[in-house]
Amino acid sequence: MLRKTLIPFLAGPIFLFGVEGFSADDGSVERGKYIFDAAGCAACHTDTAKGGALLAGGRKLETPFGTFYGPNITPDPEHGIGNWTDDEFLVALRYGVAPDGSHYFPVFPYPSYTGMTDADIRDLKAYIFSLPAHPRPNTEHDVSPPFGWRALMTFWKWLFFENGPLIPDPTREDEINRGAYLVRAMGHCGECHTPRNMFGALDEGNSFAGTSQGPGGGIVPNITPDLETGIGGWSADELDTLFTLGMTPDGDFVGGEMGEVVANTTSRLTPEDRNAMIAYLKSLPPVFNRVGRQAEN
Ligand code: HEC
Ligand code: HEC
Repeated sequence: MLRKTLIPFLAGPIFLFGVEGFSADDGSVERGKYIFDAAGCAACHTDTAKGGALLAGGRKLETPFGTFYGPNITPDPEHGIGNWTDDEFLVALRYGVAPDGSHYFPVFPYPSYTGMTDADIRDLKAYIFSLPAHPRPNTEHDVSPPFGWRALMTFWKWLFFENGPLIPDPTREDEINRGAYLVRAMGHCGECHTPRNMFGALDEGNSFAGTSQGPGGGIVPNITPDLETGIGGWSADELDTLFTLGMTPDGDFVGGEMGEVVANTTSRLTPEDRNAMIAYLKSLPPVFNRVGRQAEN
């Protein structure tokens, strides 16, 4: 099998992690719940449209490269990830590498989650493992060659992937660093709001500048503080209203994917974290890019 030949690549880091265990009553489950919401794990792994069980998979994810289906990540030992060790979970999020050494497609946003700290990833696993197991078998992705070739991910990663964790910038305030962590690592906001190159990698030079080819081919607006084409004209309160209630300054409500982000993630953050997220967004370099909402005006 092709997969076997890939085991040596990037499998090294697996052995660098300790095997510290934790018990379920040390607060990790509760902390993990907060991280689970902040990282929006439920969305792609739950087939909400068909009333699927939480994290049991089957959610259809359309991309320019084909159709992917979020896998079952409940603690079911056969169909989910119930047999995974803490280290295997950590390696999946930090390096995008499966327990068998094969590479994940970046439709699983590990290029963002790689920025998360070891402690947060471990708490997150404790929470996921406290949820009910569900025996739903995974749906095969429907992706045509060459994009469906997992082996090519080795080269993709070599070209485009830089592993975390995200290092706080000592020259910036704690609030901005916390905001960067919430936006770039956990919230993976760039996975939708940053345009991609022809290989599906994020175009970091235009971070958060919006794209007309978002997930499912939709338009995703520019969220840099550009006055004309971004959110430069929004006050912190207006952003807070969007992130808690989903309402924009025009009185529209965001729908679809952003509606889910508001319901599952931003509205569940503490006020301090929401403020940090807003402060970070306002500190971004403005990029002029006329896509989305602004183009309608
Ligand atoms: C944008 C959609 C999306 C989000 C958000 C997402 N995932 Fe996934 N995830 C996927 C897809 C698609 C795959 C399958 C990737 C593949 O087959 O290469 C996957 C794979 C996984 C796997 C490997 C499962 C296996 O059977 O090998 C784990 C574990 C996982 N995700 C955990 C998480 C966690 C934890 C979060 C939140 C921090 C999360 N995912 C958020 C789409 C997503
Ligand atoms: C799954 C894709 C997706 C993710 C992840 C996502 N967004 Fe969005 N976002 C959208 C889409 C699509 C819209 C447009 C929604 C609409 O107009 O109904 C939007 C709208 C917005 C807007 C309103 C901008 C405007 O001009 O109307 C802001 C602000 C925003 N998102 C911030 C964020 C932040 C911060 C995060 C990370 C916590 C995030 N988004 C994560 C898809 C996403």
